[in-house]
Amino acid sequence: MNNTDVTLELERQNYFIEQCREWVKKQSEILKRPLTCTAKTFGCQMNAKDSEKLIGILIKIGYVETDSENADFVLYNTCTVRENANLKVYGHLGYMQNLKKKNPNMMIAMCGCMMQEPEVVEKIKKSYKFVDIVFGTHNIFKLAELIYRRIETGKMYIDIWKDTDMIVEDLPIERKFSFKSGVNIMFGCDNFCSYCIVPYVRGRERSRKPDDIIKEIEQLVKDGVVEVMLLGQNVNSYGKGLDEEITFAELLRRVDEIPGLKRIRFMTSHPKDLSDELIEVMKNSKKICRHLHLPIQSGSNRILKIMNRKYTREKYLEEVEKIKAAMPDIAITTDIIVGFPGETEEDFLETMDIVKKVRYDSAFTFIYSKRTGTPAAKMENQVPKDVIKDRFDRLLEEIQKISAEETQKRIGSIQPVLVEDVNSHDDSLMTGRLSHNTLVHFKGTPDMIGRIYNVKLESAKGFYYMGTIVEE
Ligand code: 5AD
Ligand code: SF4
Repeated sequence: MNNTDVTLELERQNYFIEQCREWVKKQSEILKRPLTCTAKTFGCQMNAKDSEKLIGILIKIGYVETDSENADFVLYNTCTVRENANLKVYGHLGYMQNLKKKNPNMMIAMCGCMMQEPEVVEKIKKSYKFVDIVFGTHNIFKLAELIYRRIETGKMYIDIWKDTDMIVEDLPIERKFSFKSGVNIMFGCDNFCSYCIVPYVRGRERSRKPDDIIKEIEQLVKDGVVEVMLLGQNVNSYGKGLDEEITFAELLRRVDEIPGLKRIRFMTSHPKDLSDELIEVMKNSKKICRHLHLPIQSGSNRILKIMNRKYTREKYLEEVEKIKAAMPDIAITTDIIVGFPGETEEDFLETMDIVKKVRYDSAFTFIYSKRTGTPAAKMENQVPKDVIKDRFDRLLEEIQKISAEETQKRIGSIQPVLVEDVNSHDDSLMTGRLSHNTLVHFKGTPDMIGRIYNVKLESAKGFYYMGTIVEE
């Protein structure tokens, strides 16, 4: 796809946005009220970002955003990384069938990773006939066109692309937070870890051009954003396939130079591609946050090999040592899968061991979930449920213990904190985030939201702190 095609596509979509605007306006006049829209987002930061783009289009069309699922346009942005995520979506759909009976004007759209699986689309066609629009991960920029087609045809409209090389820039967007924003730097994944469905539903790796990324961040800063999260399934392999030769570390260096930007985060790093250059750039930057999410998945070399992770526990520990030597106060977090096919007690103990060695600030632990179409789904030696549950509980206990100890270490220190929100339980408190990504609650007022204050960490409760502001 060349630049002219992408520009033409943007023009086409603007045409459909106009057409839908007219329709929404007419409907609104008939109903004598504005039409409302809502997005229910499942899964990761990528999906959250996609939902902001989709809501951006809906607002441009004339819808007004609401939190209620009883809206005129309800969008489900789905996740399929584990089976639980799929089950939740079907649960919601069951409930929606009744709501739609009461509001026949309602339009229901399904998108995201689950829709890239043909058997899911078949199930929706057969059992959830009241759904209006089904699309996938590659064509979210087409939402206005899909709505237009649905109105024209009067039938469920399905448009799923297998893959794409197209990146459409400059679409409308409705950001959830005024002061922080995710920024896609790449899409897709080429790693094919044997348990993971992402490469099948998000397609091949494609990087955005550095100039487009920088331009977007500069604009965000002008709009009041102080923190960006650079998003990609595997940010460390950023730059592959671009005309311009550039590494992720180099991109970070450029983002670091943007005036007015105060904090930079990124997600997710694959241990196999972590470079010394990246560690150096992080170390020398005042803006890049002291947090690295580095999924280990398993501590056993045998399992890592079958998972197709392309690193060993020794290599991983070596990287962690380098990172801690360069930035002693950094918070390292991880993802771990328990019960991968063939995982023995010995393999599991290797995972427990690496957790004790790295001493993660926090870790997301997942029970292995069989995803149809992945190599691991065909492996015969699936681990019994009760064995997995027992290992999962032991691992969680260890992680919580270490995590609490690591959190304690920062008590008494003064840390810059970006104020994010009013505390959800006590509105005299504000909630903010340390560079290390940990939350802290302290006395404050809503006008502080979006600004950075120095906060003294007084005590740790589980995985968050209570603090006091030491300086305005
Ligand atoms: N089962 C369990 N966890 C999985 N993840 C990805 N695929 C699966 C699966 N099939 C986890 C990995 C990944 C995180 C986003 O989700 O730990 O890092
Ligand atoms: Fe899945 Fe592995 Fe790609 Fe992460 S790196 S999205 S776990 S295939």
